[in-house]
Amino acid sequence: MNTQAPDAQSLKKQRVAQAAIQHLSDGMILGVGTGSTVNAFIDQLGPWARRLAGAVSSSDASTTKLKTLGIPIVDLNAVDGLSLYIDGADEANDRLELIKGGGAALTREKIVAACAERFICIVDESKLVPYLGAFPLPVEVIPMARRLVSRELARLGGQPTHRAGVVTDNGNEILDVHGLRITDAVGLESRINQITGVVTVGLFAARPADLLLVGTAAGVREVRRPA
Ligand code: 5RP
Repeated sequence: MNTQAPDAQSLKKQRVAQAAIQHLSDGMILGVGTGSTVNAFIDQLGPWARRLAGAVSSSDASTTKLKTLGIPIVDLNAVDGLSLYIDGADEANDRLELIKGGGAALTREKIVAACAERFICIVDESKLVPYLGAFPLPVEVIPMARRLVSRELARLGGQPTHRAGVVTDNGNEILDVHGLRITDAVGLESRINQITGVVTVGLFAARPADLLLVGTAAGVREVRRPA
């Protein structure tokens, strides 16, 4: 048994995960994201295992954890939509635009987010930034297009690097784009989406979060999108 007290950041993740639990309702099919903050959320889902109708998972890693709790995994094609999706982020701004994909699950995450009526993003306060881009922007690419996409991303002002050794759940590769200071996230998402060979860009701006729950030393802060 691990008797060590959680460190300050883990505690913030646990807090924010607990706050997200308050948004669940009986009988729902829940969209579940990926990452350590989401893992903290799944760790608290035990009492909900029989209350949820099931979960749509955004990664093989989350699927494994959800199955351990006995939560039925639902195929996204078996439902017409989801009322709620809960996921973390690598960076978030006060417009609730996000960079995601640090865990390489961005494509499935974007698909599940697109199906959700409400997207609640859970982060600790280290993820809140005035401008997106200090965290290298992940882009999932078809393997044979990696160099083509790299050249196009360099034209947009970034410095792409290949995330060596990583193959996504969809069999693709990841480029991490360094050196961006993103002032028009919606515009950049659209431009990168148009590059041939790009599967998904980890900018979640056209479909941002609806509610950001931020774990801080003092508790959990709610950030809503400006009207
Ligand atoms: C995975 C993601 C994660 O949400 C993101 O990387 C945040 O992870 P963590 O909660 O471990 O910081 O986008 O693709």
